[in-house]
Amino acid sequence: MNDLILPLPDDFHVHLRQDEALAGYVSDYAEQFGRGLVMPNTIPPITTPELLLDYKQKILASASRFEPLMTFKLHAAYSRDTLEKMKASGAAAGKYYPAGVTTNSQDGISELESVFPVLEMMEDLGFVLSIHGEEPSAFCLDRESAFIWRVERIAERFPKLKVVFEHLSTAAAVDFVLNAPENVAATITVHHLMLTLDDVIGDGLQPHHFCKPLPKFPADREAVRAAAFSGRSKIFFGSDSAPHPREKKECAPGAAGVYTAPVAIPLLAEIFENAGKLSLLPDFIGGFGADFYGLPRTSESITLVREPWVVPDSYHGAVPLAAGKTLQWKLK
Ligand code: DOR
Ligand code: ZN
Repeated sequence: MNDLILPLPDDFHVHLRQDEALAGYVSDYAEQFGRGLVMPNTIPPITTPELLLDYKQKILASASRFEPLMTFKLHAAYSRDTLEKMKASGAAAGKYYPAGVTTNSQDGISELESVFPVLEMMEDLGFVLSIHGEEPSAFCLDRESAFIWRVERIAERFPKLKVVFEHLSTAAAVDFVLNAPENVAATITVHHLMLTLDDVIGDGLQPHHFCKPLPKFPADREAVRAAAFSGRSKIFFGSDSAPHPREKKECAPGAAGVYTAPVAIPLLAEIFENAGKLSLLPDFIGGFGADFYGLPRTSESITLVREPWVVPDSYHGAVPLAAGKTLQWKLK
């Protein structure tokens, strides 16, 4: 088989950045994806319908065939009126960042209960809650597992709220999501399918693999892979593609984020094929996520060809995952 036809991919978690950086990243992105759930951790953060619409327009101005699915950054002070306007402006999800956990999250949430009134309105209005599930005060490798109880509390308290535990990186979180009620789903990135902590600090320090949540132990990566290969409809792709300029990564302290957008789909094809799970890839990238978000499945497709190519060292000043490596599948 030398041609691989896949649904035009959806990505339920992406950082497209802003200002001068936006256009380049959006054009890289729209070559690979039909829809992307765009994260709101810009400066200023996306917290009003006006900012959301303005950001959406700027994204659309840089891509023709691409549909951005917008998000707002969760805080405790939203009124119902604002949330209704967010809905009317096309917001699909609100994003929960624990305060200080990652890039531009200093204004995140410290007290879980403080957002319960907003979550109740979001449940009522049919929003998805997207969660960066890490407890910032825990030891870095324990942050995700230390956060799980909060997702459990939210899902129990708001049984009709659709909750997404983003970028699973531990066996504990995988186990929780797979056994949680059906209102709890999760995204998986391509880098958490590939990397362990060894790939970040095990040899020479590799800043381009540094991200939040950190890649963890081999057993965690195995659990994340098993979840991706489970065929469960609550597990779908969210790249968390998070470009930073090379000089913001190769410095101290370096920024967290792996730039995966230009290589994600070829890498996923390789990973799923090597595991003998290629038949599960279409739903993972172009089915289950749309179903969970209540969107129509795409009717468009893309073709990958089996044609080795070397990943460039940089796209628009950001170093991609697998830079300099030879990949087997190429986008036609
Ligand atoms: O590594 C990360 N980078 N994780 C996040 O949660 C945010 C992202 C970013 O915005 O750079
Ligand atoms: Zn992210």
